[in-house]
Amino acid sequence: MKKITLLALMALPVILLADMDRCVSCHGVDFEKKALGTSKVVKGMSELEIKAALDGYKRGEGGPMKDLMIQEVNLGVDTDAMAADIYSETQTPGFEEPSDEFIFQKRMSVRTLHKIKDSIKKADAKKDMKKISSQIKSAAFTMYIYDDLLKEKIDFKIMKANNPTLNMKEVFSKVSDIKTCVDHSFTDEEIVKCRVDFVNLAGSLTRDEEKKIKAKSKKPPLYTGEGAVDISKYLK
Ligand code: HEC
Repeated sequence: MKKITLLALMALPVILLADMDRCVSCHGVDFEKKALGTSKVVKGMSELEIKAALDGYKRGEGGPMKDLMIQEVNLGVDTDAMAADIYSETQTPGFEEPSDEFIFQKRMSVRTLHKIKDSIKKADAKKDMKKISSQIKSAAFTMYIYDDLLKEKIDFKIMKANNPTLNMKEVFSKVSDIKTCVDHSFTDEEIVKCRVDFVNLAGSLTRDEEKKIKAKSKKPPLYTGEGAVDISKYLK
């Protein structure tokens, strides 16, 4: 398991979370310093203010030493996750390095959810439900097989019982909630809750499809013209 995790980490081309080791030298362990005597003290900024500053750097805007930070921010494509991470660092005293396993799970989840949100934004609500749903199902399956903690928490009976029929808008809002949940998770226990929600969402979509297939197979014959025999009563 450890081997797979490390290999997968190396294979990830995009760094979504800031590698906090580098920040410490200028900003201090809890972001309590004015970096190089120039930045604001990040500890004390809200998560939204931090995100706004990062988005600014991403657009190429900032203070007199913005070039330094533009480099840092360009490594992380997702400023939501990065801001959540920095904010959490300002709130937890000392420098606590999360485990490799946790960083891997978080990066994988953030990336996957980011991509799915993106595809839903581009999708046609009427035509593309199947495509989106299969994307979610295969991502959920991947999450499930790589995470032993998640496996323990999934109850297939409960999943079968909770199966609302979801439209595209509802699926988008669920995926967004789950991504926010992942962004704000800083421990294994926190993140596994979000991932359970994601696997349950995939379960609901599977049930929806099963129901549709069953409904289709029960449809009465199409021909209703002269001589047609109504066999629907025999199909019940
Ligand atoms: C070489 C020193 C240096 C390193 C390393 C560095 N920063 Fe900075 N940081 C700065 C400076 C200088 C500024 C102010 C830049 C400006 O003029 O806009 C800044 C600004 C910021 C701000 C916005 C605060 C403000 O002034 O509005 C945030 C948030 C931030 N850094 C986070 C980070 C994170 C996260 C990392 C690590 C991934 C990091 N920094 C690494 C020097 C550094």
